[in-house]
Amino acid sequence: MSVILEAHDLVKRYPLGEGEVEALRGISLSVEKGEFVAIMGSSGSGKSTMLQLLGGLDLPTSGEVVIDGVSLTTLDEEQRTLTRRAKTGFVFQYFNLIPLLSVIENIALPFLISGESLAAHRPHVDALLDLVGLTAKAHNSPDQLSAGEQQRVALARALATEPAIILADEPTGNLDYTTGTEILDLLWDSCDRLGQTIVLVTHDARAAAYADRVFVVRDGALLDEVDLGRRSDHQAGALIGRLAELGL
Ligand SMILES: Nc1ncnc2c1ncn2[C@@H]1O[C@H](COP(=O)(O)OP(=O)(O)OP(=O)(O)O)[C@@H](O)[C@H]1O
Ligand SMILES: [Mg+2]
Repeated sequence: MSVILEAHDLVKRYPLGEGEVEALRGISLSVEKGEFVAIMGSSGSGKSTMLQLLGGLDLPTSGEVVIDGVSLTTLDEEQRTLTRRAKTGFVFQYFNLIPLLSVIENIALPFLISGESLAAHRPHVDALLDLVGLTAKAHNSPDQLSAGEQQRVALARALATEPAIILADEPTGNLDYTTGTEILDLLWDSCDRLGQTIVLVTHDARAAAYADRVFVVRDGALLDEVDLGRRSDHQAGALIGRLAELGL
């Protein structure tokens, strides 16, 4: 296994009024290629901040993030954007689809943004539509889809560039239990079958139980790391027991 994502002593302070909020207080971690890790913690503990820094959407106040051998802090903004587009795929709680584009165009968006045509990527995009079970709805607009279907489009879009890492922030937070399970199963399949590296932010132990390893965050610091091993070999009970001990 090789390391694909590293964080070294990440500190993030946000300006707030006259003062500042210290959202992260020195986070270090590393993720192996093909690993599925989860970041858990209560509201305000710094999970989304961590994910934004790990994926290069924002820069730390101090510390370093290295994605697939590239240190984000050494790049200028344009290089960082290009690296982020090439190496990461994001999935958010509220889908973030473009309403004026069809399903297939939303999936192909990373290519369209880079000035490439849908036609040039058609077989690959068709395979993604099939993967998320939306071939029949390829030409619908997002507002004609259910919430679960919209999140499946967002996931296919995140996978489109075959990124080094998928970063997902509460991807099931806006979905019911069954629909949420479909999204988690798709994430799991992409990890298990395609070797996709996944970093999942969640406050739901059921979602975290899909991961190989769970980082527990409290007040901007890593409180614990729970090693579950491959999902096929473990039970959610072990994680839930540990979380109860930690008071989560
Ligand atoms: N842009 C910002 N400006 C100022 N403070 C911020 C900003 N973003 C986050 N914070 C603060 O940083 C801390 C961590 O926020 P963050 O959004 O990372 O938490 P979270 O764990 O994702 O919470 P939730 O589960 O509610 O999404 C909180 O105290 C929050 O108020
Ligand atoms: Mg959050």
